[in-house]
Amino acid sequence: MFRAPIRSMATSARKSLTIGLIPADGIGKEVIPAARTAIEAVGSDLPPTRFVDLIAGFETFTRTGVALPDETVESLQKECDSALFGSVSSPSKKVVGYSSPIVALRKKLDLYANVRPVLSVSPSPDQPSAVDMVVVRENTECLYIKQEQQTLGEHGKEARATRLITERASTRIGQMAFELAQARARKHLTIIHKSNVLSVTDGLFRESVRAVHEKYPDVTVAEQLVDSAVYRLFREPQIYDVMVAPNLYGDILSDAAAALVGSLGVVPSVNAGDNFVMGEPVHGSAPDIVGQEIANPIASIRSAALMLRHLGYNKGADRIDSAVDAVVREGQLLTPDLGGKAKTSEVVNAIVKRI
Ligand code: NAI
Ligand code: MG
Repeated sequence: MFRAPIRSMATSARKSLTIGLIPADGIGKEVIPAARTAIEAVGSDLPPTRFVDLIAGFETFTRTGVALPDETVESLQKECDSALFGSVSSPSKKVVGYSSPIVALRKKLDLYANVRPVLSVSPSPDQPSAVDMVVVRENTECLYIKQEQQTLGEHGKEARATRLITERASTRIGQMAFELAQARARKHLTIIHKSNVLSVTDGLFRESVRAVHEKYPDVTVAEQLVDSAVYRLFREPQIYDVMVAPNLYGDILSDAAAALVGSLGVVPSVNAGDNFVMGEPVHGSAPDIVGQEIANPIASIRSAALMLRHLGYNKGADRIDSAVDAVVREGQLLTPDLGGKAKTSEVVNAIVKRI
């Protein structure tokens, strides 16, 4: 069973559930509706659920001049209990006035952790999965503060980026990672850094996470430099249980880990803070397959399940994850990224039937 124990918010007070939907760009518009359908199929295991359609993204920017409208942020803050985000198409070149809305949203809602379980589906429900790890990525700082500048030096153009690591952010991501590790069977945490080179910034990250250990004595801790972590990830993925990393390393590691479980199209995540949670597939807007109706909806459907789990609705989440596991195990209806020929809608229908 695909099950990632994750910090749970109290459900008892909630008489209804309001979920913001932000498909944003590219295949986000194809896979977020799929996630909605899966949540709707859960029915009575959730309180009466309402969806609010919200906009953000590069297309929103080209149409309105704003990538993340205030109304979207306000709705999330005031009327939504949680949200699902698709993917944005951020251009590689600087576009004046544009800044990625997902990076901004994580900051505005203080969603300081990006939790990315990477799990292979075993051939039978009784067998353990070959790959079973969780990448916990710090979500608010590192190079993502986007303080870059270009100047003219003696030998031409020079570009610089500021990398921010704080004790506060490193401590709270450490806390989240230890908590997750403690809830898992193996109770093992690997701290990812590069403090042999970046001894000040990564040194602070490493030190701050380590300082949390005393509160979780039953969790074992290891450290790994980020480059050799990628090497070992491919050679012996089974050594990892929970990995905690600064923002950029966490992003790279989780895309790499996705290769071990068949496709980026199956890896979910949640952006989690203390008061809000937003599900988001790990993949981007996939411009190479957009509009072909072959985007794998599993990453988004599993992100919806993770989001529900985070809200405390484990039964609903289990039903979604079991249905996905069954469809993957049967292997009859898979999208091309997993070697199949099915369309997005066929996979969604197969999953919904089994929820
Ligand atoms: P990508 O994740 O969009 O695609 C990488 C490869 O994986 C492509 O071959 C794509 O077809 C495949 N793929 C991704 N999701 C899939 C799915 N659900 N089903 C089947 N195949 C899937 O990464 P790429 O190409 O580097 O970036 C494309 C755009 O996405 C860029 O503009 C980038 O800025 C943006 N992006 C946005 C993210 C976000 O919104 N959080 C995260 C990563 C990238
Ligand atoms: Mg990525």
